[in-house]
Amino acid sequence: SAASKEGYAHYMLKEIHESPRAVDDTISGLISDIEDVKNAIKILEESKRIIVIAAGTSYHAGLYFSLLLQREGFNVIPVIASEYYNIKTNQEDSILAISQSGETYDVMIALKEFKANGSKIISLTNVIDSAIARQSDVKLYTRAGPEIGVAATKTFTSQIAALQFLYSLIKGDDYTYLNKAKDVIRRSLDFEGEAKLIGEELSAKSNAYYLGRGLSLPFAMEGALKIKEITYLHAEAYAAGESKHGPIALVEKDFPVVFINLGELVGELQNNVQEMKARKAKTYAISVNEKLNTDKEILLTVEDERLSPFAVTPIIQLIAYYSAVKRGNDPDKPRNLAKTVTVG
Ligand code: G6P
Repeated sequence: SAASKEGYAHYMLKEIHESPRAVDDTISGLISDIEDVKNAIKILEESKRIIVIAAGTSYHAGLYFSLLLQREGFNVIPVIASEYYNIKTNQEDSILAISQSGETYDVMIALKEFKANGSKIISLTNVIDSAIARQSDVKLYTRAGPEIGVAATKTFTSQIAALQFLYSLIKGDDYTYLNKAKDVIRRSLDFEGEAKLIGEELSAKSNAYYLGRGLSLPFAMEGALKIKEITYLHAEAYAAGESKHGPIALVEKDFPVVFINLGELVGELQNNVQEMKARKAKTYAISVNEKLNTDKEILLTVEDERLSPFAVTPIIQLIAYYSAVKRGNDPDKPRNLAKTVTVG
C-alpha cells in the first residue's frame, strides 16, 4: 500500500533511504551477538580454506569479503552457489553462506553438499532462523529489516557492513569506524539528483559497461546487475584492466562506461578512462576522494577509505532505480525475477 511506502514512489527507493538505519542495526546486532561472531572468526581463522557461497547480489558482497581476506593472505575461494560442483571441500574447510532470504535453493544445495563433506558452516542471512541459518554451525545476521523490492538494496549494504565488521575483527582492527557508515550513506543520499541524471541518461542506451579494479570490482558488478534487473538494459561489469582484452571492441561514440572508484588504484583507473575516451565513449564515474575526470562524475568524500563502499553503494542503486523509472518499469517487481528463488 502507499502508506507503507511512507510517501516514497516505490519500496526500492524507500529501502535505499533506510540503508543508514539498516547498517547501524546490523553492526549493533553483531555486537550484541559477539559470542557468535567470535565463534565464526575462530572457525574462519582455523580453517585451511574459506569457501564463500552465495547467489546474485549476495555473491557480490561475498566477493568483496573474499578480496579483503585474500589481501591478508587467507585462502578464500568465492563460489557462485549454483557452481558448487567445481569444488570439493573437506573437514579443514569452512563455508560462509551469504543469503538475504536465507532460503535460496542454490545456496542450500551447495551448503548441504559441503556440510556432508564435514566442512564447518557459517551463515549470514537477514531472516532470523532462516532455513540456511538452521543448517549452520554459526548463525550470523544482517538486521536490515524486511525488504520488499525484488532488487536487493539495503540488505546488500548491510551485508557489506557485517562482512567488514568480521574482517576488521579478523585483522585485529578497531571496528568503531563502522559507526560512521550511516553518515557516509546519508551524505551519498544527498547526491540523489546527480544519480538521477546519470540513471536517466543510461535509460536511453541499450548497453553499458561498469568497470572497476580491486575492491571496486564487486561494486561495478553489483551496479551492472542492478541495471540489468530493473532497467532491462544490457550492462556488463568487467575488471577495468581486462576491458582492453575484448570488451573495448564494442566501444564507439557515446557508448556509456561507468567507472567505480573506491579511492584505490586511481592512476590505473584514470588510464582506463583515457582508453575509453579515445574511443569517444561517454564516461561516468562514481568516485571516492579522488577524481577520474570522466565526462560526468559524482565525487564523494570519506575520511576513512574503509568506508568507501558505503559512499558508492547508494549511488549505484539510485542510478539503477531512476533509469528503471525513466523507462516506465516497476523497479519493485521486475519481470522474470523473484525475490526468493527456492527452486533449482
Ligand atoms: C534472487 C533475487 C536477487 C538475489 C538472489 C539471491 O535472484 O532476485 O535479488 O540477490 O536471489 O538471494 P538471497 O536471498 O540468497 O540473497
